[in-house]
Amino acid sequence: MTSLASARILLVVGGGVAAYKSLDLARRLRERGARVRAVITRAGKHFIAPLSLAALTGEKVFEDLFSLTDEAEMGHIELSRDADLIVVAPATADLLAKAAHGLADDLASTLLLATDKKILAAPAMNLRMWLAPATRRNVAALRDDGMLFIGPNDGSMACGEFGPGRMAEPLEIVAAVEAALSSPTTIPLPPSFVRGGALAGKRVVITSGPTHEPVDPVRYIANRSSGKQGHAIARAAAEAGAEVVLVSGPVAIPDPSGVDVVRVETAREMLAAVESALPADIFIAAAAVADWRVEAAGEKLKKGADGPPRFALVENPDILATVAARASGRPRLVVGFAAETEKVVEHARAKLARKKCDLVVANDVSPATGIMGGDANEVSLVGPDGVESWPKLGKDEVARRLVAEFARRLSSGQPDEPSR
Ligand code: C5P
Repeated sequence: MTSLASARILLVVGGGVAAYKSLDLARRLRERGARVRAVITRAGKHFIAPLSLAALTGEKVFEDLFSLTDEAEMGHIELSRDADLIVVAPATADLLAKAAHGLADDLASTLLLATDKKILAAPAMNLRMWLAPATRRNVAALRDDGMLFIGPNDGSMACGEFGPGRMAEPLEIVAAVEAALSSPTTIPLPPSFVRGGALAGKRVVITSGPTHEPVDPVRYIANRSSGKQGHAIARAAAEAGAEVVLVSGPVAIPDPSGVDVVRVETAREMLAAVESALPADIFIAAAAVADWRVEAAGEKLKKGADGPPRFALVENPDILATVAARASGRPRLVVGFAAETEKVVEHARAKLARKKCDLVVANDVSPATGIMGGDANEVSLVGPDGVESWPKLGKDEVARRLVAEFARRLSSGQPDEPSR
């Protein structure tokens, strides 16, 4: 998830009267802290000047698929890779038709075909063009493919008719951009297509989020955990070509795409889900599992004259230690996490030995760090070979680096196949 304040938007401006509103859209996005790069089609240049777009975005405007200079500076694949979201405004009937049919004869249509990012389209066209069966079919196909749409709105149009076809207003598009950014914006290739990915052909099982241990039907014991780091690792592993099973406790973030998600509540459910997802090449215990549970009451506990209820805490199974201790079918790489508030590396070393895992990813989660629930993380890798500390990075970047590190450790270890 990306906030608009740090988002990188690639704005594709098609050829329509509404193109003038895209200048305002670029301004509104930048006011909110987004970086906006623009691509304009040949038809778009009939409506607004690339120079106006360049002035409002503060960036070079890209126009031509076959420009040697542009391709040398920033190839068309790189343009979309370097964005969090592609916004097509105005999305003309022609651009939508090209995208629906996979045509790629200019920079804009090639980008739309080659991108791994979500696309938000703001259609703008004459109402008869919008209502034409061909456009209806194209829009339905694009929606099925995952393209997002905002508008068009009803209203009077430049051509003198009244009806649907007016491009959504810049602030409506900004709101749609914000909504699109609140869920994952990268569309990973199916694992079998990620040839040469660092984890191609490998199976990864990962736990993430907290567990909830019921006290009665309405109360529970839990650890604080947003699941952001665990989910990001699951996504990064899938992007590296692995087949990923994510066993997630209750979280408020979306499922990463390309990952098989198993939802659980309690530690015992999490252990059962992990065991049925094994064997795997790598097991990553990123969940904040509640260490204890209580014998849950069948009915809601009531406040009474006897004072607060007393609970006998029962220890939960240690999922990480259980997997690391498997006599047969132990994943070749078992990774634990250590979220600590003091003596981080010291506690992580102790965990490495006690839980018999191969690597512990340690981080300081004391409130002053803002790491708990935040978008950044500062981790140290604690292994039998020593400690490596990384600078503070976004959780997605930490995830990508961890996945690269896991792949490296896996390939330098024993080449056994996982077995049941
Ligand atoms: O013992 P502690 O909770 O500090 O250890 C943290 C590591 O152990 C994490 O990797 C966590 O996912 C894992 N763990 C587990 N099952 C538990 C407790 C912790 O898998 N019951």
